[in-house]
Order: sequence, then C-alpha cells, then structure tokens
Amino acid sequence: MAPLLSVNNLSTHFFTGNGVVKAVDQISYELNAGETLGIVGESGCGKSVSALSLLRLIPNPPGKIVGGEILFEGRDLLKANKKELSHIRGNRIAMIFQEPMTSLNPVHRIGCQVREPLMVHQKMKKHRATAEAIGALKKVQIPDSESRIDDFPHQFSGGMRQRAMIAMGLTCAPKLIIADEPTTALDVTIQAQLLSLMKQLTRETGTALIIITHNLGIIARYADRVNVMYAGRIVEKAAATDLYRHPKHPYTIGLMASVPQLDQDIKSRLTPIEGQPPDLADLPSGCAFAPRCRFAVEKCRMEAPRLRPVSGGHEIACWVDVE
Ligand SMILES: Nc1ncnc2c1ncn2[C@@H]1O[C@H](COP(=O)(O)OP(=O)(O)O)[C@@H](O)[C@H]1O
Ligand SMILES: [Mg+2]
Repeated sequence: MAPLLSVNNLSTHFFTGNGVVKAVDQISYELNAGETLGIVGESGCGKSVSALSLLRLIPNPPGKIVGGEILFEGRDLLKANKKELSHIRGNRIAMIFQEPMTSLNPVHRIGCQVREPLMVHQKMKKHRATAEAIGALKKVQIPDSESRIDDFPHQFSGGMRQRAMIAMGLTCAPKLIIADEPTTALDVTIQAQLLSLMKQLTRETGTALIIITHNLGIIARYADRVNVMYAGRIVEKAAATDLYRHPKHPYTIGLMASVPQLDQDIKSRLTPIEGQPPDLADLPSGCAFAPRCRFAVEKCRMEAPRLRPVSGGHEIACWVDVE
C-alpha cells in the first residue's frame, strides 16, 4: 500500500537581508496510515518549518518552498489550489501548535472554537456541532465538559488548553495530526499524560501522528519511527527503539547525552553538545555538524554526507562509523 504521506526532497528557504536561510534542505521521508513519526533536533534546525511546509503555511515573503514534492493520499500538496488546501487543512491534516494561548482565540469561548471546524468543514448545524464538541472535550478528559465549553481559554489551565487543542484537532477525524512541541511548556507529568492520551486517541482512530520535539526521551516512548534533524536536514532515520538503543549519528549520540529524559534519575549528569548549530544562511561546505563533531575526519569538512543505510531501516548521513 502507498504511504499516507511521502515527502520527497522538500526544500524551504527564507530569502532575507542576511542571505538565503536554508531552513529545510532536501528532506525525504514517508509516513504510513496510523503510524507515529517523531521529528527531533535542537531549536532552529527546521522542525517547525518542515511541518508548516506540509500545510503550505510558510510566510511568503520571505519564505518559499523551493523544491520537492509532498504526496498526501496520492496527491501533491505543492500543486493543490487554495480550495483543495483549505479542505485538506481542516479535514485531512490537523495541526496542534506549541502555544495554545496563541492558537486559541482569547475572546471566544472554548466550545465555540472546538465546534467551529465541524460547522465550517462538515457543514454541521450549531446544535449538533455543540454536542460533538462536548463529546470531543470528554474524549480528551476535560471534566464537566458540558459546562466548561462556556469557559474562555484563560479560565483553562495550560494542560487543559492543550487538551482543548487536541480535541479541536480530532473533531474532523483527520488522517494526519501534526503536533509541534505540543507539551514543551508543560511540566513533565502533564506532558506524559497528554502524549499518552494523544497516542491512545490516534491509535483508536488509525490516525497518523507526527510529534515534533527537542526531547529525545519523549520520542523513544511515543513514536514508532524517528527523523533526527540538524541544520535543515535529516541526519538519522530509524525505528524509535533502535534509535534509542543504538544511535549512530554523532549528533544523535550527543543529543541523547544532553537532553533530560522522562525516566531519568535527576542526579545523572547531562552533557551538552559543545558549540552552536551553524548559521543556516552560511553553512559549511562539508557536513554541517563537523565543526562540533568529535569524530570528524578530513572528508567531513570537504563533502556533505548523504543518508546511507547502516542496518535494516536505519540510515545516517555521516561518513564515519562510530562504534
Ligand atoms: N519567517 C522567517 N524568516 C527568516 N527565517 C526564518 C523564518 N522562520 C523560520 N526561519 C528560520 O528557519 C530556521 C528553522 O526554524 P524552525 O523550523 O522554526 O526551527 P525549529 O527546529 O526550532 O522548529 C531557523 O534558523 C529560523 O531562523
Ligand atoms: Mg519549532
């Protein structure tokens, strides 16, 4: 069966006064129906831009998708017209953002916002959409949802707002949900609860899920497969369990040692990766990670490595075999 989503050589650049920022540079990956893909990497490595590109939500200018193909249910989203795109955005692909306070409208009641996609995209009457909205809030375990739909966003806690966002995302029964750091602002316990909930709901409905995060610990627990991004490119791809146990790219190895993990002993030491990610408008000619990499050899500074298979379903973009 063809994958639900197939991204081929996608590149999104920003044309700024300081040069061309290659925020996403020739990334390719596939996602099957019902599967959960994790996208990880440090801040600024192109995770959000890659997700926003899927829905063609890149501000232009200065941004532009300069190349590639995004096949979703067999159709190239880069060739879709405005009408098709708006249908896809509400009905087929939902996005849950990092900051619910900026994506929930503060002047509208929660219920009104949760039922809106149903009224707009599925032409439901208000009465029925309200009943569905209450049901959706129940599903994400918001207590007293019959009365709480009349609350405004500021009357909800951070965790509840994020739950309301998930409810909004799920109401139209999309085929794909993209969650961009949906829990970063919340404490670890609530993060874990929300991710479990999202995982459970998508599993029940066979919805594919892309979880974007800078926390590898989260990914290991909730994703089936993982793409590790660095400087706008995918540098490692693997099954989540494989990546967690046997990270192969020096960047992933560094990331693993530097991020707190959900089940980690608080006293254990975190070792940050030295140095800074490169300026995406002025990338080095070889591997973008080479200046920070303790395994780098001469070739790494000359030529950028492409992804290559290292074992079944596991690929890295690295010239060196680190054991
Ligand atoms: N509107 C914009 N104008 C210029 N550069 C941008 C814009 N939006 C994002 N970028 C750049 O794209 C790169 C990737 O950003 P982003 O995808 O948001 O990173 P993250 O991995 O943290 O989600 C960053 O270097 C950022 O500065
Ligand atoms: Mg981001």
